[in-house]
Amino acid sequence: MVQLHDKTFGPYLTAEEIQQRIAVLAAQINRDYAGKEVMFVSVLNGSFLFMADLFKQITVPAYIQFVRVYSYRGTGSSGKVNELMGLNETVKGKHVIVVEDIVDTGLTIQYIHRTVTAHEPASLKLASLLLKPEVYGGNPKIDYIGFEIPNRFVVGYGLDYEGLGRNLPAIYQLKENEV
Ligand code: IMP
Ligand code: MG
Repeated sequence: MVQLHDKTFGPYLTAEEIQQRIAVLAAQINRDYAGKEVMFVSVLNGSFLFMADLFKQITVPAYIQFVRVYSYRGTGSSGKVNELMGLNETVKGKHVIVVEDIVDTGLTIQYIHRTVTAHEPASLKLASLLLKPEVYGGNPKIDYIGFEIPNRFVVGYGLDYEGLGRNLPAIYQLKENEV
C-alpha cells in the first residue's frame, strides 16, 4: 500500500510485469522498423521512465526528443489541452513514434497526433504504456499498448498524483473506497 497526499493506492502492476511487457514492445518495434531510423517523441513528464526503459532495448538507429503538454490536473482529466511545447522540426520526414504514459480520454494523444502530423513525418505511430479502453474512443489507434487497464486512477512508474508517486518502480491503483 502507498499513501500519497490524502489518497491510498494498492498494488496493481509489478516492476517485473512492466519490464517484461516493455521487452515485448521493444522487440515489436525493432521488428517493425528493421532497416529504418526511428524518431521517438516522449511526452513529459509521465512517460520518462517508460521511455528510458524502452529506449535502452531499441536496436534500430533511434533519435529521441521530449515534448510537454499542459492539460491535466488531479484525478480527473480536465478535458482541455493547451499547448505542445518543445516539438523539434526534425520530425519532418522521420519515422516518428510518440510515447505516452497513459491514454485516458485521449484528448492529449489526439492533440499530439494532430500537431505531429502537421510537421509531415514520413510515418507516425503511437505508443502508450497504459490505456483505459472504457474511456478512450479508439481514435487515433494506439499502435503499441503496454496494458489495458480499468477506468481507475493509477500512480507509479512515471505517473503521479498531484506530483507524487512518479518514482515508484511499480504501478498502484487508487483503493476501491476512494474516488
Ligand atoms: P487524456 O488526455 O484524458 O487521455 O489524459 C492523458 C493524461 O492524463 C496522461 O498523459 C496523464 O498525464 C494523465 N492521466 C490520465 N489518467 C491518469 C491516471 O490514472 N494516473 C495518472 N495520470 C493520469
Ligand atoms: Mg502525461
